[in-house]
Amino acid sequence: NHMQPSLIELPKHLDLRGNLSFIEEDTHLPFKIKRVYWIYDVPGGEVRGGHAFKETEELIVALSGSFDVILHDGEKEYKFSLNRSYYGVFIPKMMWRGLENFSTNSLAVIVSSTNYDADDYIRNFDDFIKQKKLT
Ligand code: TYD
Repeated sequence: NHMQPSLIELPKHLDLRGNLSFIEEDTHLPFKIKRVYWIYDVPGGEVRGGHAFKETEELIVALSGSFDVILHDGEKEYKFSLNRSYYGVFIPKMMWRGLENFSTNSLAVIVSSTNYDADDYIRNFDDFIKQKKLT
């Protein structure tokens, strides 16, 4: 169900040389990858996000360290605590999101279904709720 947020387990290959994980668009994602970006050097206590996307779908992976992904679909809240580099949170379009509780040196990588477009953001929670009720 691509309307619901979900935790996606990625492959991991463990051997004496260390670990390897990967994402394949066709195997692991319900969208095509247009963009990859990453969030790093987040000062303690800072919160990222605080917006929703009208069209963009994403997968967020904690490549290093840990943080929480808090989602709201207009009715209920979801919380995913990420601390392994072989799990990703799939975020459908029209989900309010926040990233918080970043550990020191954490690194979030986000694969995204769109190019960056400031017009795809809804930055006001009340506007988000209004738009949700229209759909
Ligand atoms: P923003 O979306 O506010 O970050 P977060 O989702 O963590 O709250 O983005 C921060 C700044 O970076 C903002 O000025 C827009 C810019 N930006 C890009 O230019 N390209 C991108 O792909 C992203 C995600 C952000």
